Amino acid sequence: MRRDNISLVGFMCSGKSAVGRRLATTLELDFVETDMLVEASAGMAIRNIFECQGEEYFRQLEHAAVDSATLRDNCVIACGGGVVTRAENVALLRERTTVVWLDVTVDQVVKRLQGQPGTRPLLAGPNPEGRAAEMLAARRPMYEAAADIRIETSGRPPDDVVDKIVRALEDWHGSAHS
Ligand code: S3P
Repeated sequence: MRRDNISLVGFMCSGKSAVGRRLATTLELDFVETDMLVEASAGMAIRNIFECQGEEYFRQLEHAAVDSATLRDNCVIACGGGVVTRAENVALLRERTTVVWLDVTVDQVVKRLQGQPGTRPLLAGPNPEGRAAEMLAARRPMYEAAADIRIETSGRPPDDVVDKIVRALEDWHGSAHS
């Protein structure tokens, strides 16, 4: 079991990348993002993969990215928001990592999305708020089932979220889960 790896799961714009980088620095671990591995293997940006090859192809690359990221040692892995929609991904995360869910509200997602236009193909379209609400409601049970630890993130700066994660990990390992 590689429980020395920490994976961050959560909806788009929940802060996985910003928090993950800081968490990795704090804990002196490596940092890796499944989205970056997918982009490297496809040789194109996520939005172009969706546009040219479709979501199913993206999900196949994403599964390979989850597999290779979780086989590393001593790293923080920021997972794309849809990783939990595949049971085979969740099985790898739970076997090889401690899974931390960054929970976020729809309001916060919409606010953050406005600062990063065009980056989330699944929220592109006329009603991103309605779409985010729908997707988040559908995925919430999946994040819940995947996670060892849930962290409420809305309205909190990344450094606060990192502090909360570090404390939660200490409790987690202290209660004989390591
Ligand atoms: C997706 C989330 C994105 C990216 C892709 C699909 C999803 O990652 O993997 O656009 O299905 O939720 P972030 O969660 O980093 O935005």
